[in-house]
Amino acid sequence: MAGSSAQSSFRHQALRAGHRYDPSAASRPILVFEDVYKSYRADQPVLRGMSLVIERGEFVFVTGPSGSGKSTLLRLIHRTEQVDDGRILFLGRDVARLPDSAVPALRRNVGVVFQDFRLVPSWSVFDNVAIALEVIGLPQRLVRTRVGEALERVGLAGRGADPARVLSGGEQQRVAVARAIVHEPALILADEPTGNLDPQLAIDVLGLFEDIHETGTTVLFATHDRSLLDVRPRRVVILDEGKATDVPQGLAESDAMLDDDEFEDIDIEAA
Ligand SMILES: Nc1ncnc2c1ncn2[C@@H]1O[C@H](COP(=O)(O)OP(=O)(O)O)[C@@H](O)[C@H]1O
Ligand SMILES: [Mg+2]
Repeated sequence: MAGSSAQSSFRHQALRAGHRYDPSAASRPILVFEDVYKSYRADQPVLRGMSLVIERGEFVFVTGPSGSGKSTLLRLIHRTEQVDDGRILFLGRDVARLPDSAVPALRRNVGVVFQDFRLVPSWSVFDNVAIALEVIGLPQRLVRTRVGEALERVGLAGRGADPARVLSGGEQQRVAVARAIVHEPALILADEPTGNLDPQLAIDVLGLFEDIHETGTTVLFATHDRSLLDVRPRRVVILDEGKATDVPQGLAESDAMLDDDEFEDIDIEAA
């Protein structure tokens, strides 16, 4: 299963950092938010007692109005931000309480894709992906093999030598996805990854995440694009007023209650 080698390296790192690995973690959900609070300003809390459980191998959309905390939620998992209160358990370990020395191992287990791709335009496609492995000191021979495999998975085999800047937006996002999956993380976080793409390309990129999900990787996909949420019935988590509400079969069933680009009006009880 994809991710298992990365998971074991996370455990290895955790052990090296002097923290006991808990073997029962393997049977637990991959991600648990327990009563999480986060605010950037005391008078404007973003998450207010948010709880959420993601099982291994799920594909979950995170949606909600602009400013509802979708990006914040993802950044907390990746330890780009810290919770004010509550716990976030990733593979059974409390992310908020990992020592700084264990954060690189966490990040090797969590791939991240952003709306704006974040590639280095003058670098080759190959180098943009390879950097993720070079920073951990993987031998060049292995880097070449793994980058080649990742580019093939995203449909860019043969494009490695091209400078990133000559690629279309959709292709650049594929490079960013290759970079996120090249260490075979257990979890992929996608923060509005289709936000800069036109509708057909957005569907293509969604399909790419679905392919990655098929290989066993858990995917958390933040978007406010209603048209993507309707592509297939799947679990949707709606963030609003600092809390998460689950819609297990997706929003398509509750269309009558929804305004196209307004989430404030969702009748959460009925959903
Ligand atoms: N680094 C930051 N500093 C201060 N406020 C922030 C920061 N990041 C986000 N916010 C605020 O937190 C709220 C949630 O933002 P965000 O998580 O980006 O929401 P979303 O991704 O759902 O649009 C917004 O009100 C936003 O302005
Ligand atoms: Mg956001």
